[in-house]
Amino acid sequence: MNYQNMHETANFLKEQGFVNPVVGIILGTGLGKLVDEIKILKKVSYSDIPNFPVSTVESHKGVLIFGELEGRKIVAMQGRFHYYEGYSMQQITLPVRVMKLLGVETLLISNAAGAVNLNFQKGSLMLLDDHISLLPENPLTGKNIDELGPRFPDMSQPYDEQLNNLMKNAAIEEKVTLHEGVYISVPGPNLETRAEYRYLKIIGADAVGMSTVPEVIVANHMQLPCACVSVLTDECDPEHLHPVSLQEILDVAAEAEKGMIKLFKNVCRSL
Ligand code: HPA
Repeated sequence: MNYQNMHETANFLKEQGFVNPVVGIILGTGLGKLVDEIKILKKVSYSDIPNFPVSTVESHKGVLIFGELEGRKIVAMQGRFHYYEGYSMQQITLPVRVMKLLGVETLLISNAAGAVNLNFQKGSLMLLDDHISLLPENPLTGKNIDELGPRFPDMSQPYDEQLNNLMKNAAIEEKVTLHEGVYISVPGPNLETRAEYRYLKIIGADAVGMSTVPEVIVANHMQLPCACVSVLTDECDPEHLHPVSLQEILDVAAEAEKGMIKLFKNVCRSL
């Protein structure tokens, strides 16, 4: 995916009416309901967008939405791309590149994750304070696109401090429990073994999931401020590990996303 491809995609979307969005939103697994709150102005299936990969996971819809949320122009991804689907890191992160080219100034990300910190209950939310990537690849590998950002981007504050403060204020105002912690991204698609959960905890995880870090790296590369909320869908207790089904994860996500929606709307209002 070169710079020209990115512009091609952005120009296509502009022609479709995706004009002057200020906030980009990525909706994770089972977290598509925020869309009901958006005044939709335009909607395009990923399969109709040049250079966009097509989502292969049943629970992901694969639609790019342009509209208004709390009076702010937004572009939202209903469904994202995962490494385990076989996409390249460049494909996974193309939508974030394109959002920035469309003019987005803030990126709000959601995902479903397992709680490694056992003080965090399933169904609660966690604001990402930091992350550790255990993915085998990086979206910035290869020749740097200098127009987009530097060769060696800083990652000392991957999640924007001001945005995180807005998110924490939103949690207080909306009376939503919002933990804070470190997210570790793994390639998946299998869930982790007991030994892997012990290891993740030892190296510093509060939550584990299969997404988000590539998008956050690319956002940082372009100096696009981002914040991410994990919906904790299961408790990863190596001493009492039960098999979790995708259905269970989706059910918990559906319940917990109500809080996430309140937070995202509140932050949009205060931007
Ligand atoms: N690991 C464990 N539990 C999870 C994950 C994961 O990647 N995603 C959602 N729940």
